[in-house]
This record gives sequence, structure tokens and C-alpha cells, in this order.
Amino acid sequence: MSVDARRLIESLRSGIPPEGHVRYFTVGRLSEITELTTRLQQGESGALLLKANYGSGKSHLLRFIRETALKEGFAVSTITLDAKSAVRFNRMDQILGAIWQGLEVPNQLGNKGVYPFFDWICQQARNSKISSGEEWQKITNKNYWNYSKIIESPAIFIAIRAWFSSRCDKNLIQDWLYQKSTYKTTYLYHELVNKVNASYRYEFSLNGNLNWTAYTSKPQIFSFSSQGYIQSWAALRDIKTLACAAGLRGLIILFDEFEDILSNIPNIGHQEIAFQNLFQFFIGKQFQGTSFFAVTPEFIDKCKFRLFSKNRWDSSYFQLDNLPTFEMTPLDLADLQELAKKVKDIHGIAYEWNTNSSFIESGIISVIQQTGNIAVQDRTRQTIRAVISFLDEQIEEN
Ligand SMILES: Nc1ncnc2c1ncn2[C@@H]1O[C@H](COP(=O)(O)OP(=O)(O)O)[C@@H](O)[C@H]1O
Ligand SMILES: [Mg+2]
Repeated sequence: MSVDARRLIESLRSGIPPEGHVRYFTVGRLSEITELTTRLQQGESGALLLKANYGSGKSHLLRFIRETALKEGFAVSTITLDAKSAVRFNRMDQILGAIWQGLEVPNQLGNKGVYPFFDWICQQARNSKISSGEEWQKITNKNYWNYSKIIESPAIFIAIRAWFSSRCDKNLIQDWLYQKSTYKTTYLYHELVNKVNASYRYEFSLNGNLNWTAYTSKPQIFSFSSQGYIQSWAALRDIKTLACAAGLRGLIILFDEFEDILSNIPNIGHQEIAFQNLFQFFIGKQFQGTSFFAVTPEFIDKCKFRLFSKNRWDSSYFQLDNLPTFEMTPLDLADLQELAKKVKDIHGIAYEWNTNSSFIESGIISVIQQTGNIAVQDRTRQTIRAVISFLDEQIEEN
């Protein structure tokens, strides 16, 4: 226990609780958190804007949702839309690639992406209860694997079919789905269809699924961007279908630093497409999963201002005012006290000393009174750090 506690303290020294311990280190906002947790437990779908100032805990709350959702049996993907991620929200193929990269399933210890997802799906499908289930039977067309009755994207069907056969280059599938490089259609067809056909009694065929009539040429089968990105949206629904068929409750997508779409998409036309994509997540027929978008408070006003100033305003943008929103208040002093107490308890376990003296407690109160004056964007982090260095000093003096 004390080794774990020490690792925890090391991570907290940077001011951020480590993955897997976010729930424990969450304080305050009881009603907000209860509402969110209930939403997840009841499997309510739909999108929500999480609005708060810098440092008020948006990323923290997303990490809290991630942890809760995994515990409740959902697949979760987390995407940060900062400059580093290079995802432009007008490009649904890039969004999808990022969703793949951030995808997690329960009990995978921080493993993310195509590998843990497909490996887990395939492992579940070797369990007879799942494989004989109605959903899996439809996905695989009764284990013939020649086409799928419910997977809407032929690309996703080709990918899971190849993965399940084990007769393919899994790295190729991963890089292709991450949209990292472009591949020649003939190469993909050879590697992922022709080679794999040998594993199954019937060859892959586009006939059989009415959704697939939209894909009339081989390049279209492998493209996530042609025909208005139809295959990207289809693939997103398919991730959910696969997750549910394998026993999960759904797919939850978490977008952090979403306000960056205003700065990292310079072209107004592209920005308008990004707004349309946002609306699809909120009201859309395209994806009926759950998604959260963390934004700063002035985000909606900035969007409107930009549309007005570029003469692009039309009535459809009134939707911006009606997006379901969750406003978060910053932590107050009592919340910081509660957080400090948790840090103090773990510090005691980590270094095997008694932190329950009135001297330590009043020392912590005065540390918090000082950090309470720091600007809100740094306050919580600095408080965590200051409490730890205060405790470190006390051990040395003991
Ligand atoms: N409810 C909370 N309970 C405990 N710590 C929190 C809470 N909300 C935020 N924090 C901590 O406050 C700091 C800033 O939060 P962060 O989520 O990074 O803010 P934002 O993303 O809004 O800029 C982080 O150290 C985070 O762990
Ligand atoms: Mg943040």
C-alpha cells in the first residue's frame, strides 16, 4: 500500500491526480457530480457542453467522467483539440482517427487505441455467449463473414474481419484507421481482403448490405473522407455497435479544449463545417452516443461574433444558444480543505507517519489561506503542491 501511496504522491507533486485515482481526488460540486454520474449510470445519450473558466476543472471533470464511464462498462474515447493533436473539427475523418487513438475499454490499464479495442472485441467473440448472441450473428452474417448485416461501414467490417482472422498486419489496420498515412487501395485490398479471404469459407462481398450500395468503387470502400464523410459517421456508429455486441453499454466521447476550434481552423467556411459537425453530435441523426465538449465560458459568444463579423450568420446558428450546457463553479475554500485532507491522508500512508495532529491540521489551513489568493486558473494545482511541500517539511523536522 505504501508503494502505491508514494506513486500517488509523486504524481500529485505536479498538481494532477494520476489515472485511476481521479474519482478519489474529486471534491466539491456534489450536485453537479451526482447529476453527471446518474446520467452515465442511466445510459442517457446526447451531448453536453461543459463550460468553465481556465483552471476551474474541465479537464478534471472529463477525467472523472472517463473513470466513471469505464467503471460503468462503457467504451470511452478522449480527444484534446489543442494544436498538438492537429485534429481539425471540420474534417470528420480526422475526428474519427483521433477517436480511434483515444479509445479505451474497461479493465485495460491505460491501453488506448485500435489494438486494445479490437483485441478485446475478438476475445469476447470467442466466448460462446457473445458469439451466439443475436448482435454478433448479425455482425458476422452468422459467422460466414462474407458481409455484415449491421456494420454500416464496409471499411470497419473489413478491419474487424481481418483482425479476427489473425491473418493480417495489425499495424497496417491501426495506421490506416488512425489516418496517419495514405495507402494505395490495391495494397489495402490485397492485405486486408484477398489475404484474409483464405480464413473464411466465403469471400468478402459488397452485396448483401443495402447500406453498402453507396460504396461503388474500391477507393470508396477504403476512404473515410469521400462522399461527404459518410463512411466516417458510419464507422463511428459501428464502433458503438461492436462495443455493445461485445457486452459494453455504449460509447462516450470526451472532447477537451474544444474552444480551440476557433483558433486552429482559420478558414470561415471550414469553421462553419466544424459547427455543423458539432450540431450533429448534439441533435444529429449521425451519432446517437454520448459526448461531452469542454469549453471556456465565452466560447458561444466568440462563435457568434465570428459568424456575424464574417457575414455568415443565419438562423440555423440559433442552435448555438440552445446547446445543453453544464456550467461549473470553481472550487471554494471548503472544497480545497477537503482535497488537502485527502492529500494529507495519502502522504501519511506513503511515508508512514502520523499526520493527524492539530499542529499539522492548522498548518494546512494556513497554507490554504495563502494559496486561496492565487488566481483561479492556478489555485487548485498550487494548493495541492503547497500542501505536499508543507507535509514534506514536517517529516524532515520530525
Ligand atoms: N472537483 C475537483 N476536485 C479536485 N481537484 C480538482 C477538481 N477540479 C479541478 N481539480 C484540480 O484543479 C486543477 C485544474 O483543473 P483543470 O481540470 O486542469 O482545469 P481546466 O481544464 O478547466 O483548465 C487540476 O490540478 C485538477 O486536478
Ligand atoms: Mg483543461
